[in-house]
Amino acid sequence: MTFLVTGATGTVGRHVVAELLRLGQDVRALTRDPAKADLPAGVEVVGGDLADPATLTEAFAGVTGVHLINFAGDAYGALESGAELVRLAVASGVRRVTVLGGRDQGPLEDALGASGLEWTMLAPTEFMSNTRQWWAGSVRAEGVVREPFGGRRSAMVHEADIGAVAAALLVNGGRHGEEIVLTGPEAITTTAKVRLLAEAVGREIEYVELTEEQARARWAADGMPAELIEFLVEALGNTPEIGYTVTTAVEDVTGRPARTFAQWAAENAADFRPAA
Ligand SMILES: NC(=O)c1ccc[n+]([C@@H]2O[C@H](COP(=O)([O-])OP(=O)(O)OC[C@H]3O[C@@H](n4cnc5c(N)ncnc54)[C@H](OP(=O)(O)O)[C@@H]3O)[C@@H](O)[C@H]2O)c1
Repeated sequence: MTFLVTGATGTVGRHVVAELLRLGQDVRALTRDPAKADLPAGVEVVGGDLADPATLTEAFAGVTGVHLINFAGDAYGALESGAELVRLAVASGVRRVTVLGGRDQGPLEDALGASGLEWTMLAPTEFMSNTRQWWAGSVRAEGVVREPFGGRRSAMVHEADIGAVAAALLVNGGRHGEEIVLTGPEAITTTAKVRLLAEAVGREIEYVELTEEQARARWAADGMPAELIEFLVEALGNTPEIGYTVTTAVEDVTGRPARTFAQWAAENAADFRPAA
């Protein structure tokens, strides 16, 4: 069976691809720029733009299941073409769909609900990979993490577990019509995260807790849009219960315990070490 993975060059999509390959499936990967796509051998890479469904007929042809992102474009805007995508999926004979949930829902979710397709919404909490994005530069350069809200707890999820859940549901079915919240196996504080990372990297890492005002100023100086700053202050400073409540969904679907942050840190420690 062939599965189409959208967002295949992204943080989560790469793992959906890897896991489908591990399960012995044929994988077709969508990207806006096939020349730049760095995907494993054996993956069929196809060009297309989710914002323009007319470009996607070839990508959807003959696939059994599709992993969808629910945004289009580098600013993560809602997928306005969602209803057309669902029509294309139905017309192409697709049976199963998984959706990587994001900040906003749009026409895609409504259209899937009314489609008769077997769909599952994946609602991951914070990705463990945010740690690389936010901390790797200052840890490599100075051995320091500067962030607000040191005591906040997060049930961060390993992105490979999101990929494993998506692949398992696409191949084996199950959880149709559900939204499932994907977390790691524990809710840990920022200070605990710094400690675990330091152990994995093999180097002391100092945690400097910023005030909210200092964090706002730093993020603005980094060029972060005002809307994203507000989102982060709210998400990190006032994390909703769902963000720190551990679920068993990863293990329920994959049959394996969710990966810990210590494991993520060990796998990715090299990204936090200064170049030799
Ligand atoms: N970070 C977190 O903690 C967190 C937590 C929960 C949910 N999320 C959600 O996760 C999502 C981001 O996932 P990610 O981190 O895996 O993405 P990512 O690494 O930022 O990669 C973006 C992917 O989207 C593809 N893409 C973007 N616009 C496209 C378009 N118009 N047509 C086709 N493909 C397009 C890109 O493909 P090409 O560039 O190759 O075309 C790329 O593969 C967001 O919805 C976010 O809200 C994030």
